Amino acid sequence: MPFKRLNLAERQLYSDDLMLADELPPPSQISKALRKRTSPHDRVFDRFLPQEERIVSRQYWTPLSVAVRAAEWLDELDIRTLVDIGSGAGKFCVAAALAGDVRFLGVEQRPRLVSVARELARVFGVDDRVKFVPGMFGVGEVPPADAYYLYNPFGENLFGPDQQLDAEVELSDDRYRRDIDAVERMLAEAELGTCLLTYNGFGGEIPSSYTEVRVDHDLPNVLRMWRKTSRISDGPPHTCDAESY
Ligand SMILES: C[S@@+](CC[C@H](N)C(=O)[O-])C[C@H]1O[C@@H](n2cnc3c(N)ncnc32)[C@H](O)[C@@H]1O
Repeated sequence: MPFKRLNLAERQLYSDDLMLADELPPPSQISKALRKRTSPHDRVFDRFLPQEERIVSRQYWTPLSVAVRAAEWLDELDIRTLVDIGSGAGKFCVAAALAGDVRFLGVEQRPRLVSVARELARVFGVDDRVKFVPGMFGVGEVPPADAYYLYNPFGENLFGPDQQLDAEVELSDDRYRRDIDAVERMLAEAELGTCLLTYNGFGGEIPSSYTEVRVDHDLPNVLRMWRKTSRISDGPPHTCDAESY
């Protein structure tokens, strides 16, 4: 499955549950837990998102346990900068920033989500090293970074209208192919040593010039860390999760 899909009734239930959450911890307490690399329940974090983004969290945004594991790996591999391609409401960048020292840049096609993400970074006090910019990955230059993160950002192109975030951007099979091609091009052209984190893949293939250096199968979906270890690709590419494509 590209995402754990929720039908609308389930989305509403999740949202209603949160309405009862008077006693939930404040951002300082959540930040403290993430700094210690423990994951509070996603609900306590998602409470700081506007309702529209909260109700789609389980389907669209990275779980805290995944952000914490990613932060550990980024630290171990001495990565200083990361670009989240399709940063959505900012949950991955903000949570991983709290659990580590990396500087994050989120690129997001929907301006509304860029505003939501900037506010989330401000609420959790990491807006000095977590930035978000509006933009369409695949159009123009790719921002330079030590590592890139992909949480299956293009899967929405294949969903029906009731599972899409909104109808504000182009979503189509053609767009899906174009975006995947852009990632594969970026990976082919990236400098030696560049890392890629995939959470449930991205629908495309990873060139053989990349080596899988970390993997965790015990998270809701598979998280993998890849590193470019050769200048040339001289073998078959690695297939990468998102098995329903
Ligand atoms: C599955 S969500 C992941 C959000 C975030 N990375 C996280 O893990 O919490 C994918 C996001 O990618 C965005 N997106 C999809 N294709 C994009 C593109 N070509 N350029 C910029 N953003 C894109 C969508 O609007 C959506 O917000």
